[in-house]
Amino acid sequence: MILSTSFFVSLLSVLATAKPMVSRTMVVHESRVAPGDNFVQSSAAPAEKELTLRIALKQNNIAGLEAELYKVSDPASKFYGQHLTLEEVVEFVKPTDETSAAVSSWLSENNVDARPITPAGDMLEIKLPVSQANDLLSAKFSVFTHVTTRKTMIRTLEYSLPAELTQFIEFVHPTTVFATALDPRPKLVAASRGKRAAPVANDLPGECASSMTPACLRELYGIPTTPATQRSTTLGVAGFIDVRSHSSQQDFLTRFRPDIDPSATFALETLNGGSNPQNRSQAGVEADLDIQYTIGLATGVPVTFISAGDDNTDDDLGGFLDMAILLINDPNRPSVLTTSYGFQAETDFPLSVAVNLCNTYMQLGALGTSVLFASGDGGVSGGQSRPCNNFVAAFPASCPFVTSVGSTGGINQSPGISEIGSTFSSGGFSNYFPIPAYQAKDVAAYLAFIDSLGTIPESGRFNRSGRGFPDVSAQGENFPIVLNGEFVTVEGTSCSSPTFASLVAAGKPILGFLNPFLYSPAGHAALNDVLFGDNLGCGTDGFFGHAGWDAVTGLGTPNYTALRTTVGL
Ligand SMILES: *[C@@H]1O[C@H](CO)[C@@H](O)[C@H](O)[C@H]1NC(C)=O
Ligand SMILES: *[C@@H]1O[C@H](CO)[C@@H](O)[C@H](O)[C@H]1NC(C)=O
Ligand SMILES: *[C@@H]1O[C@H](CO)[C@@H](O)[C@H](O)[C@H]1NC(C)=O
Repeated sequence: MILSTSFFVSLLSVLATAKPMVSRTMVVHESRVAPGDNFVQSSAAPAEKELTLRIALKQNNIAGLEAELYKVSDPASKFYGQHLTLEEVVEFVKPTDETSAAVSSWLSENNVDARPITPAGDMLEIKLPVSQANDLLSAKFSVFTHVTTRKTMIRTLEYSLPAELTQFIEFVHPTTVFATALDPRPKLVAASRGKRAAPVANDLPGECASSMTPACLRELYGIPTTPATQRSTTLGVAGFIDVRSHSSQQDFLTRFRPDIDPSATFALETLNGGSNPQNRSQAGVEADLDIQYTIGLATGVPVTFISAGDDNTDDDLGGFLDMAILLINDPNRPSVLTTSYGFQAETDFPLSVAVNLCNTYMQLGALGTSVLFASGDGGVSGGQSRPCNNFVAAFPASCPFVTSVGSTGGINQSPGISEIGSTFSSGGFSNYFPIPAYQAKDVAAYLAFIDSLGTIPESGRFNRSGRGFPDVSAQGENFPIVLNGEFVTVEGTSCSSPTFASLVAAGKPILGFLNPFLYSPAGHAALNDVLFGDNLGCGTDGFFGHAGWDAVTGLGTPNYTALRTTVGL
């Protein structure tokens, strides 16, 4: 870990000369009137219970980093592909000396030790008992219980900061956040669990309508089976629940990739106790799916399974943030990262917290990692009902610095129609992130189409100035996987993100942040525009597919051959 040692030094020197406690004027920094949905306040938090909190410091020039990111990600720029070094990223992200000094003197006055957890020192971690946290932040940390899951968390409805520090501190976390974690995700649904998909080797495209095997995906998108000779790319698969079966993977590869070694392995990188076996419902489904399809599709690409356990700050944002920080610190970070976990609503987090995590993905993009997220699922599917409202954006899919991947299905249904957007595939517009320049033209064209429809979907019910997602899509229905030794069929955007990511990783160049390329004329030309489908699976809260970008399938599905021609995959 490359941590800011200068911060330690300055903190220690302040500690050595610590003055007696100074009384400061406190101002409320964040508050809410009531706990999150379905949480009730059950008791005061035990005074001696230790809390781990993160303090996000104001970064000195995040706008500068964003400008650099676009320079190196826009194919029209002469700096295209010249990704930044960690040191260069740190220069933009680190807090000013004034910020660090002001915050460290406040903490030392209160005898609180802080540890920087990012290479730039912009995020500090403090561990302190509830009683001390209550004093430090003029807070009232309490135990809150979820009414159905009975899960408890310690939160406060309000906290304060010294008035002179509010300009230096973005937020303290977790405090007022009630995100119910990864919850119904891995929202992958087994369309016919238990029913054998009965896939056969050497699938013919005609059979792909009922079983979307790796061979079908290769055929459909032109993915090569031979590994590139000079390989520079690597593929990271994020896992937040680390159950994954090696024997299932072998069975899968034996059946669907008889040409490669079925015991093909992946590297394992763990954080937050991710190496400990854990069980949760459907835990194995997501990890098995992600590993089976990435190894099965990205021929010869080194795959790393990055597994986060539960041992984070009692809040799954911690898992996402910690994983991003781990990768920023890792000189061997993957060039492509796919994540099929996320939150149903960006509004589960305060804006400041969502922006901070999104900007952490911006850092990864600047360093040269393509960050892909499943766009999220909703609606009734596979006999399961999942909460869904496409007028509230899923997160991190709504972050403009990730490539959000939606789902398609429908093969060979009618002549001339190759793919159709999946009804469960989440898409829409963010209330937190404004439209980034790279998609402004495409989104404007789609809004004009929506307006031409009249009232359906109701134009007033989503944010016309928000970032539109997904960016792209890929098949996400009828995927056979091996689960507990049995073939089952699954569906979801959880299938689509690993598929698109494998295709990007199967190419040679390190592309970094993909979106400016994808929305460029060359990107448009390398994607199959999906014209049909809607994500109205949740009722009326959804969108229709259309020519060009749409809020169901984004720009469309990949064409490997065309991508190879335009970006030299
Ligand atoms: C975890 O899974 C094992 C095997 O399926 C089971 O025996 C055990 O009870 C599970 N543990 C928990 C905590 O659910
Ligand atoms: C709509 O999006 C913009 C841009 O992100 C944001 O400033 C605004 O607050 C959003 N409106 C609502 C009602 O959330
Ligand atoms: C993919 O792109 C290639 C080259 O541009 C083109 O010949 C082919 O028809 C495309 N495939 C599809 C399915 O559009």
